[in-house]
Amino acid sequence: MKKFVIITFLMLCVVVRSQLSADFYSKSCPNLLSVVRREVRNAIKLEMRMAASLLRLHFHDCFVDGCDASLLLDGSDGEKFAAPNLNSARGFEVIDTIKNAVESSCSNVVSCADILAIAARDSVLLSGGPTWKVLLGRRDGLVANQSGANNLPSPFDSLDAIIAKFAVVGLNITDVVALSGAHTIGLARCALFSNRLTNFSGTGAPDSTLDSSLIPSLQAACPANSDGNNTVALDVKSRDLFDNQYFVNLVNGRGILQSDQTLFSSDLALNTTKSIVQLYSSNPAVFFGDFVNAMIKMGDVRPLTGLDGEIRKNCRVVNS
Ligand code: HEM
Ligand SMILES: *[C@@H]1O[C@H](CO)[C@@H](O)[C@H](O)[C@H]1NC(C)=O
Ligand SMILES: *[C@@H]1O[C@H](CO)[C@@H](O)[C@H](O)[C@H]1NC(C)=O
Ligand SMILES: *[C@@H]1O[C@H](CO)[C@@H](O)[C@H](O)[C@H]1NC(C)=O
Ligand SMILES: *[C@@H]1O[C@H](CO)[C@@H](O)[C@H](O)[C@H]1NC(C)=O
Ligand SMILES: *[C@@H]1O[C@H](CO)[C@@H](O)[C@H](O)[C@H]1NC(C)=O
Repeated sequence: MKKFVIITFLMLCVVVRSQLSADFYSKSCPNLLSVVRREVRNAIKLEMRMAASLLRLHFHDCFVDGCDASLLLDGSDGEKFAAPNLNSARGFEVIDTIKNAVESSCSNVVSCADILAIAARDSVLLSGGPTWKVLLGRRDGLVANQSGANNLPSPFDSLDAIIAKFAVVGLNITDVVALSGAHTIGLARCALFSNRLTNFSGTGAPDSTLDSSLIPSLQAACPANSDGNNTVALDVKSRDLFDNQYFVNLVNGRGILQSDQTLFSSDLALNTTKSIVQLYSSNPAVFFGDFVNAMIKMGDVRPLTGLDGEIRKNCRVVNS
């Protein structure tokens, strides 16, 4: 009897921690996962970078008022116009295409927030990374939060600021490092790292934590007279492959963003993130395992469930 009570209590704890479940749509939309997979595959076939862009959308959604698709709402007060997203977040048309395909298969039951979570998972898998069961049942929010989006982690943030921003949404230091490994795919604009190339923080020299042999090619990609919109791969070695090369790069001073390299090179990294970077650089399986765990945690940030929010018909606008 006592055992039964304890087990019931433990099960309740699990339920309380997450109301999401892998089989949430198994009756209401049995083809959901295959429809999303097909559409993500089509989008990536047209442009490989789209895998990275879709993965990033889920992150930028979850960090602002939870995973509620608030990022997708159009409008001048929307999150799309916040500095971290403007001319940067991309893939919104692909989300529309996926949503339309899902709606024609099962109308009015699948949230845009869940589509973001599934598309992120599929993007990782189709880039050669790990896979996992996506927990589902999120509902879509009714409001955007532009100031919240302006507070997303910045490439110019110090490591303690980044750790603090992750802690706010319940993610710890292991999650910071594992999720930063998403930068094994995708691109970054010159405006977000070119300050490291010449006169870094007024020192008259490049960022000393940046491998000097990488500087000429970055300068060539980011000429002084260009507008900052040129791009380079976040993982210069294997830009489209989801692997642990990002961490090998950090060990070699080849992280592109200051916020990447700081995970290995800053003083605070010494007792926090550096040993995790080293572990992942030599052990891809541990990285993949921790990445999956952290993605599931990130996908569980304050989801709207039950009767909260709504199932948006068009991901760009709340239902009328
Ligand atoms: C640790 C804090 C983070 C910072 C400061 C950061 C910052 C950035 C910046 C500045 C870019 C380039 C944006 C541009 O060029 O306009 C970028 C790209 C990207 N980020 Fe992050 N990021 C962080 C964490 C994450 C996380 C947690 C994920 C996903 C799990 C992620 C996924 C990506 C991807 C895939 C790209 C490439 C997108 C594309 O090519 O379209 N990042 N990030
Ligand atoms: C917007 O996000 C900020 C966090 O950056 C939070 O303090 C604020 O409560 C949010 N506003 C709304 C309306 O959710
Ligand atoms: C972070 O949380 C995970 C569980 O999600 C745990 O396994 C890991 O040890 C934690 N890391 C730190 C540094 O506390
Ligand atoms: C670097 O920047 C600092 C402050 O912004 C400035 O005083 C200095 O002259 C610059 N040095 C070079 C070599 O451009
Ligand atoms: C980058 O391009 C956008 C339009 O595509 C433009 O509005 C913006 O000013 C450019 N960025 C910079 C730093 O010049
Ligand atoms: C690491 O060191 C800093 C400053 O010395 C300290 O504030 C922080 O609590 C330490 N973190 C850990 C995880 O030991």
